[in-house]
Amino acid sequence: MMSALIQCEDVWKIYRVGDVEVQALRGLSVTIQQGEFVAIMGSSGSGKSTLMNILGCLDQPTKGRYRLNGIEVGNLKPDQLAGIRNQQIGFVFQSFNLIPRTSALENAQLPLFYRGLSLKEQRAQATAALGRVGLQGREHHYPTQLSGGQQQRVAIARALVTLPSLLLADEPTGNLDTQSSQEIMKILETLNRDEGITIILVTHEINIAAYASREIMIKDGQVLSDRVTKARPTPSPVEA
Ligand SMILES: Nc1ncnc2c1ncn2[C@@H]1O[C@H](COP(=O)(O)OP(=O)(O)O)[C@@H](O)[C@H]1O
Ligand SMILES: [Mg+2]
Repeated sequence: MMSALIQCEDVWKIYRVGDVEVQALRGLSVTIQQGEFVAIMGSSGSGKSTLMNILGCLDQPTKGRYRLNGIEVGNLKPDQLAGIRNQQIGFVFQSFNLIPRTSALENAQLPLFYRGLSLKEQRAQATAALGRVGLQGREHHYPTQLSGGQQQRVAIARALVTLPSLLLADEPTGNLDTQSSQEIMKILETLNRDEGITIILVTHEINIAAYASREIMIKDGQVLSDRVTKARPTPSPVEA
């Protein structure tokens, strides 16, 4: 039997700042299957970003178990974590995090440069990724020449260019107007529905969370509620 994509069991994250101890996650457990589209909600300081950092292998739990694709992440060394991030995970942030004075194409190429691909392959794959987010024709624009929504689309293209199976988005529409937010969410919806990419999204907004098919509320570093909000597309029957 296939294991879940994400399995968190009694995950704790304790930050120590001087003498002060902050329990950002307090025994959180959650299981997420490949192909889900999950919205994580909760008030500021509830532990959402801390959880995303752990799910994205940017950080490790203080206690408890996190398995990604069956691999126990807590036991991995920093270079192994970096390898998993580069191979399996795409990140999108509220503040786009594009490199200034660098074209959309070069921004989207960057993860492939780190993979050691030839410049020609980098350009071809980054151009395709920009096409997937509707930015064909904007390859040579700099971030300052693009709207907020377009900049976030470049960031999504950069996250997609390595063909990750998991996309993590921490308040991706937090800096966008309503129309751009809807455009971004429609792109994420399509990536999930048509390409089967697992998406985990943090948001404050109910109308943004409504694009997902499952909603998890976090409070004080624990799961407060977890409900399916939409039927997932039924997989086509396997031929005998
Ligand atoms: N690097 C850090 N060092 C110390 N405390 C932190 C750190 N990151 C987050 N925290 C604390 O952990 C708690 C959860 O933060 P966070 O995960 O950012 O919440 P959210 O994303 O839901 O707003 C907060 O009390 C925050 O101040
Ligand atoms: Mg946060």
